[in-house]
Amino acid sequence: MIIIDGKKAASEIRIELKSEIDNLKLQGKSVPGLVAILVGNNPASESYVRGKSKACEEIGMRGKIEKLPSDIPERELLAVIQKYNLDDDYNGILVQLPLPKHINEEKIIEAVSPHKDVDGFHPVNVGNLVIGKDTFLPCTPAGIQELLVRYNIPLKGKHVVVVGRSNIVGKPISNILLQKKENANAVVTICHSASNDISYFTKQADIVIAAIGQPNFIKADMVKDGVVVIDVGINRIEDSSAAKGYKIVGDVDFDEVSKKSSYITPVPGGVGPMTIAMLLKNTFKAYLIQE
Ligand code: GUN
Repeated sequence: MIIIDGKKAASEIRIELKSEIDNLKLQGKSVPGLVAILVGNNPASESYVRGKSKACEEIGMRGKIEKLPSDIPERELLAVIQKYNLDDDYNGILVQLPLPKHINEEKIIEAVSPHKDVDGFHPVNVGNLVIGKDTFLPCTPAGIQELLVRYNIPLKGKHVVVVGRSNIVGKPISNILLQKKENANAVVTICHSASNDISYFTKQADIVIAAIGQPNFIKADMVKDGVVVIDVGINRIEDSSAAKGYKIVGDVDFDEVSKKSSYITPVPGGVGPMTIAMLLKNTFKAYLIQE
């Protein structure tokens, strides 16, 4: 069994990008810029956004956080987005989700210019992904594909079972791996909360991608021997022995499932670190397109 090291892969990608940016600086060119728009005081969102901005700065990109009050009217948030759509200093715009209830998330996602949509959430980019055009891939699914490729895990003709159908992970990873392209061309099944017997599907999978949001949901008796397991879950569970009183576990029962796996991602240290690395990659791509 091989543990897929997302931290190491993410660090390699950051080093690759840093050297590209060092080159830009040597040539006297401007560097890429990302603005992360954060509405309100959700502690998890604040921490994610800080991590994204810090990652930008570490590789020599500009990473600005635009912090806005939780009661900002929707039209004011739209105006802020429009300002950054027109600002050449920022190649990528990210609006951290979730947004407060009074704001229509779809409207906000659609307000970001598709050319600066480094999250890959705009319907134009989602559509481009589905029909196989080059586009900004959403960061977590792009990170999953990158891990599979870096570990030379074959995809062509393999049966991938995705558990979860969110717009951020389940739907885009299914579409990415389904494409008739290199590093894809898999046979994809998607299971979700209305599936009667999820294990009926997961037992047939060469690769299981778990993105359900339920701690330790995938058990050893739900997979076949030699399976590749990608765990997208980030769940907090109580742990009185931990200093913080909780620990982070994935959607896969790692201790039992790892015994049957050929490859498996840990939580933390698997898919998580790849999300930010792919955001940096998308921001660099946006810069190159816009320059
Ligand atoms: N909230 C949870 N995941 C994400 C993400 O990938 N991008 C944004 N903008 N918000 C999120």
